[in-house]
Amino acid sequence: MTISTYESVYVNAFGAPSLVLDHGQGVYVWDTDGNKYLDLLAGIAVNALGYADPTMTEAMTEQASKLSHVSNFFTTEPQINLAKTLLDLLASEGGKPGKVFLANSGAEANEGALKLAMLHKPGGKFVALEGAFHGRTLGSLSITYKTAIRERFNQIAGCEFIEPTVESLETLGDDVAAIFLEPIQGERGVVPLSEEFLLKARETADRIGALLVVDEIQTGMGRTGRWFAHTDTIQADVITLAKGLGGGMPIGAIIATGEAADLFTPGSHGSTFGGNPVVAAVALAVLGKVKDLLPNVQKTGAWIKTELEKAGFAVRGKGLLLGIEVSDAPGLVAELRAKGFIANATGPDTLRIAPPLIMTPEEFEPFIAALVELRK
Ligand SMILES: Cc1ncc(COP(=O)(O)O)c(C=O)c1O
Repeated sequence: MTISTYESVYVNAFGAPSLVLDHGQGVYVWDTDGNKYLDLLAGIAVNALGYADPTMTEAMTEQASKLSHVSNFFTTEPQINLAKTLLDLLASEGGKPGKVFLANSGAEANEGALKLAMLHKPGGKFVALEGAFHGRTLGSLSITYKTAIRERFNQIAGCEFIEPTVESLETLGDDVAAIFLEPIQGERGVVPLSEEFLLKARETADRIGALLVVDEIQTGMGRTGRWFAHTDTIQADVITLAKGLGGGMPIGAIIATGEAADLFTPGSHGSTFGGNPVVAAVALAVLGKVKDLLPNVQKTGAWIKTELEKAGFAVRGKGLLLGIEVSDAPGLVAELRAKGFIANATGPDTLRIAPPLIMTPEEFEPFIAALVELRK
């Protein structure tokens, strides 16, 4: 199978893909020509356990051999256990009790969060941040900042984008239904929100009676060395998750806490596949392993940051979600690819590093050497 075949059969939504990938093992992935790559992107912060993790395969095959799908007229043990596990993880970081809705992707989780906000304050407007990315479905796209991808499809009138500053929060009034934020703005270039801003966002949401929705789709489930990237500073009313939660299986989740937990009633939301037992069983297996990987994420992430700073690079982010300032990031991605590394540019001057959470300093080391050689 070649890329020219892809181009003749697949819509041109992404441009031509650069590789046809065949298989992976741990932090490495191989293309169909047999070339091996060190994966510093993990399918954009998804493959938490890397490739071909046996625990995932076991959970998948065991559940698939029992039940693959049941519809929402029924439930299954994996669905219930996953919801309970997510609530327990949130409680372990000081979060409020709540309830879970399982979806199939990050954008879908944000769609549900938008509905919660609409039920919370009918007619209220949405506030999102400049630089925000919340997804490509019509609702989630309406709270995504980048005009180039939003403009032609904007559906929700009345979404206000504000700069992530304390002063802009002070201007908000009680016509706001929800404030959406990402603790680290991944697509903007791995830009963390300040502690001061997060505290003010919580205070503002309380002042104006809005829901504070924290999008942890890229940052959550161990990526920053914690289960949630915001809980060391504030607690949210609604949290959305996806990406790493399934370790590569399609999943999204909404955790609605406090009063928001009871906003959905029969008829207000649904999904044929959301809560799928195979996907939920795999997510449970992933979370079981990520629990033991949190110290590695903290240690390897800190080591990478220190080494890169020693080599003269400016680095943003936390744990294994890092942005490295470089010149001509897209050009660098291509140069790195030729040397056997998969990384990603979030803009002209930022290289995003979001490797599998199993990455060790020894495995990462050759990337630093290559980066120094290419951009010193
Ligand atoms: C912060 C954030 N929110 C939402 C999404 C959308 O998730 P999905 O692509 O699973 O719909 C993404 C994906 O990149 C994301 O990074």
